[in-house]
Amino acid sequence: MKTLTITRPDDLHLHVRNGAVLKTVMPHTARQFARAIIMPNLKPPVTTVDQAVAYREEILAAVPAGLDFTPLMTLYLTGSTTVDEIKKAAESEHIHAFKLYPAGATTNSDSGVANIKAVYPLFAAMEKFDIPLLIHGEVTDDACDIFDRERVFIDTCLTDVAKNFPGLRIVVEHVTTTEAVQFVQDAGANIAATITPQHLLFNRNAILAGGIKPHHYCLPIIKRESHRLALVEAATGGNPKFFLGTDSAPHLTSLKENACGCAGCYSAHAALELYAEAFERADALDKLEGFASFYGADFYRLPRNSGTVTLEKTAWKVPSVYGENGVSITPLKANEELSWKLQ
Ligand code: DOR
Ligand code: ZN
Repeated sequence: MKTLTITRPDDLHLHVRNGAVLKTVMPHTARQFARAIIMPNLKPPVTTVDQAVAYREEILAAVPAGLDFTPLMTLYLTGSTTVDEIKKAAESEHIHAFKLYPAGATTNSDSGVANIKAVYPLFAAMEKFDIPLLIHGEVTDDACDIFDRERVFIDTCLTDVAKNFPGLRIVVEHVTTTEAVQFVQDAGANIAATITPQHLLFNRNAILAGGIKPHHYCLPIIKRESHRLALVEAATGGNPKFFLGTDSAPHLTSLKENACGCAGCYSAHAALELYAEAFERADALDKLEGFASFYGADFYRLPRNSGTVTLEKTAWKVPSVYGENGVSITPLKANEELSWKLQ
């Protein structure tokens, strides 16, 4: 049987929520990944080091016995974040970044930043204390077409941030366009990007053709085929600026299959298998280990993991839902066959 063994990977962009959902999803991530950058967009958001440290304990308590998993915590940047908190975060061994959500851009982003120029002094502090800034790169202007929001954000905002803070490490999260790939490639070594499995596997037809598919709806929204091809090229090209970040974002099935469905694809159940599928299609399985296990750790200045995981070329069917006792989460590729399986 065909197998692929790689160094244990990290997920550099993950939502695990809290409470019963956390208990449902945490085993999926912990069996695949050694570490994950945990997004802070809870209700209410995780804005202080003390809150993140408490959330970290809740996450660790949801990791099944015998699995070795380290949550890498982030703080949610708001207009009220203080320079003191940034310094404290940079000094904490548990906090690895700040996350910038433009206010209103996505799930639980109401407390995000309404005026990005107004928080430039906070970017200066992050640059000084050397803690990375993770950016959800979309404008929130209602008049801007949803398929253009990432490109316009790069032109009207990100380019200026990069110019003003040349020493600030920035991750442009979940890039979805040719323009974002180009921006990251052309930027200094301080700027990198994560890429999700859904943006490598699907184009926008997967949301809209043949009926509305709410489980393919996430933000930034999946774009047309030419963008998908640019993302595959970036992910499989061996460029250390591009690394794995699933953006796995669990929502209850009832809130996805809804007249106003939530944004987010749940992919943690089969994250590595989904990436393997995308890399195999591009005839680039030899590039998966760098993307999944090395480049993210290097960017965050973490030691690379020891130990390995092995994928086998074995078909298996993804369940229709995960969860129990009122929790029902529909995974990406529900009821469909995947060709790779984690041993
Ligand atoms: O689709 C998304 N879901 N995009 C985000 O930026 C947030 C995420 C979530 O938290 O559900
Ligand atoms: Zn996210």
